[in-house]
Amino acid sequence: MTDPAVATIHAATRLRGELHLPGDKSVSHRALILAGLASGESRILGSGDGADIRSTAEIVRALGARVERLAGDGSTVDYRVESPGVDSLTEPEGVLDCGNSGTSLRLMTGVLAGLPMTATLDGDDSLRRRPVARIIEPLRSMGADLHGRQDDSLPPVVVVGHFPLRAIEHTTTVPSAQVKSAILLAGLRAEGRTTVREAVATRDHTERMLRSRGVPVERTDDADGSVAWTVQGGMAVQALTERVPGDVSAAAFWLVVGAIHPDAELTIRGVGLNPTRRAIVDLLRSMGADIEERPDPAPQGATDEGVGEPMADLIVRSSTLRAIELTPTDVAAAIDEIPILCLAATAAVGTTVIRGAGELRHKESDRIDGTAAGLRALGAQIEIDGDDLSITGGRRLRGAATDGLDDHRLVMTFAVAGLVASGETSVGRPQAASISYPRFFDDLERVRA
Ligand code: S3P
Repeated sequence: MTDPAVATIHAATRLRGELHLPGDKSVSHRALILAGLASGESRILGSGDGADIRSTAEIVRALGARVERLAGDGSTVDYRVESPGVDSLTEPEGVLDCGNSGTSLRLMTGVLAGLPMTATLDGDDSLRRRPVARIIEPLRSMGADLHGRQDDSLPPVVVVGHFPLRAIEHTTTVPSAQVKSAILLAGLRAEGRTTVREAVATRDHTERMLRSRGVPVERTDDADGSVAWTVQGGMAVQALTERVPGDVSAAAFWLVVGAIHPDAELTIRGVGLNPTRRAIVDLLRSMGADIEERPDPAPQGATDEGVGEPMADLIVRSSTLRAIELTPTDVAAAIDEIPILCLAATAAVGTTVIRGAGELRHKESDRIDGTAAGLRALGAQIEIDGDDLSITGGRRLRGAATDGLDDHRLVMTFAVAGLVASGETSVGRPQAASISYPRFFDDLERVRA
């Protein structure tokens, strides 16, 4: 990139190569947070190294754990965390800066709710527009004192923690792994059993990672399809060494561009394929994408004591795509991949309909309007009807100016679109890619065979 305000991408005649992804962002946040709660030494191998993960690392450090960055390769980094344990964490001196990271803000609010101290969590302009009533209300009912701006709806969030908290049973009003995780983390500091019920199962990394650290988490599946998670308060989180899988949400950009480019074959190494995260792979396949999955024969055991989330190498080849219809449940399962799925839809025969995507309006940007604006600039046909999107594919995109709106997933969507669009595409505010994928633009140049 020459001009930092704009990235310019030219159409690629061929795409080839092998990609090594950043460590999964959701798993990396949780590994750092749980390491901060566990007494002793934890090691996190292959963590993501984007700005969001650095925010969480700084927050864990500000609470009194020693957080050391070990070897890194630009995409991933290893951490060593030495914590005095949850009961010996100390009140932070300053405001805890979550930067752009909703996961840092929501999960750490859950942790702080059960610590006897006062802390303020804040972030950048984008984070200050993201909803927090969804965590403030349940955590307050557990006995913590929390305040947000504008009648408790927006950050900064001030948390006056309380120990012990009261256990609750809570049904989430929107499918959100961040809300579920915040309550389960607070539940560790409650007397009794805390249950979170969700109508649609969201990513279950917190639950898996608690179990692997010695904390039982029960799952109950109800007849109506809802799932309830229960944690017993007072259980200690144990320190361990864990390897973080490659981020499937980062893989999604290569899967889509590999499928829609007419001359592509890309190999993506070590992709985490947790069943609650792999929806994008299956949705693309149902559109006709040629994605081969070679499971990692030894995802766990040899190098770590972690949960060993399933991992595979994925090979994607040029494909002919057809439109699909996504339900609100599909949207929840692929919540971070909807912008890049919209790009896939621009190349598919027919009209792809995405229903119930309202939560996308509350991400790092309004991703419904932002995705539509960028792809329309490239010549795509997209209609918005409330929280539903319809994309009619089949026309080749043509290079144009797009705006990433300081949102990492929009930046990367429009940048890979530039590899298939004719001529030259520009992406405004491209630095946001480093929120989750610092080496993204290097990888983009490398696959242009
Ligand atoms: C995340 C959950 C999702 C997702 C975010 C990461 C997590 O948010 O969009 O990027 O790590 O728990 P919600 O659970 O609020 O939808």
